[in-house]
Amino acid sequence: MQSVIDINDLTVSEIDELLATAHDMIEHPQTYAHAAAGKILATLFYEPSTRTRLSFEAAMYGLGGQVLSVPSASHSSASKGETISDTLSVISNYADIVAMRHPHDGAALVASNAASRPVINAGDGGHFHPTQTLADLLTIERSFGRLEGLTIVAVGDLLYGRTVHSLLHAMMRYPNNTFIMVSPHELKLPADFLAHVRSQGVDIRETTSLADALPQADVVYMTRVQQERFANRDDYERLKGAYVLTAGMMENASPDCIVMHPLPRVGEISSEVDSDPRARYFEQTYNGKMMRMALIHHLLQAADTNQEREQREEFVHSIPAETAVCPNSRCITHFERDIVPRLYPDTQQCVYCDYIAPNL
Ligand code: CP
Repeated sequence: MQSVIDINDLTVSEIDELLATAHDMIEHPQTYAHAAAGKILATLFYEPSTRTRLSFEAAMYGLGGQVLSVPSASHSSASKGETISDTLSVISNYADIVAMRHPHDGAALVASNAASRPVINAGDGGHFHPTQTLADLLTIERSFGRLEGLTIVAVGDLLYGRTVHSLLHAMMRYPNNTFIMVSPHELKLPADFLAHVRSQGVDIRETTSLADALPQADVVYMTRVQQERFANRDDYERLKGAYVLTAGMMENASPDCIVMHPLPRVGEISSEVDSDPRARYFEQTYNGKMMRMALIHHLLQAADTNQEREQREEFVHSIPAETAVCPNSRCITHFERDIVPRLYPDTQQCVYCDYIAPNL
């Protein structure tokens, strides 16, 4: 059964197909108004959300389907200690497709392994947020007519910011894109992730200066410092205002660039930028609904026709449970009973959170 946990679960041709479907849905919404009639989407959100949850639900209604919703962990039996695996086994009896958000890295993969229905990762901790990336790709494509040959300047919390991680994974698969990563030293892209991107021959640079990077940008991708991922409140307070994009700064940006933000913003973009025609962050939220419509449609069609996609890489290297500890304290292996930490044999990365675990 196909699930989408990581943007890399979709091939470039599948992403291109979803983009084409979303364009068609924008042009001809009535064609799809009953495409999911009789189908049910379950939205299972164990972490706060406005855009992702509501756009998934709006997308399902736009396809003529119906929605069941668990709005928080405290509204579900997770609060009594039920595992993700048991929860997904149950929900598979009630819904045809599931969108799930969870605070822990790897939770969506655990869910997809237990579910007999397609699971869409709506954000797992600081790990991945593939449908935000689909929204971002549609926004970039509608602005430039292409997804290649662009300079993307990503700004803010690049350590915990799952939207940047997923966007990088996607845009590095299109040719001739350049990435400039702007962050405080403490919030740099994880070193193993940066090394992986570089190992693919991708042009990626790091700086702490937004002023230096801004004039080079086709896409300015602002992000929020992720308060909920910090162990230390003082560190968050010190770093939260590191970058604020203002109308004055935009005078030094290209007239043809676009400004994006996955939202919510908490001060990273001054509201005076909202009237700049280069601001695309509210259009991004509309594009999110359209790409989620396209994805739900695609996955339900595949499920109905029993199309099996290539399975994710089988993990064959199992570590004895009594000695295995993933070094990422946010990894689902620290929280879910009956989950044995495992490594991909070739990369030595944790299967669930992708952190390289040299001490396992
Ligand atoms: N962009 C995003 O994921 O927003 P929400 O947290 O409101 O869903």
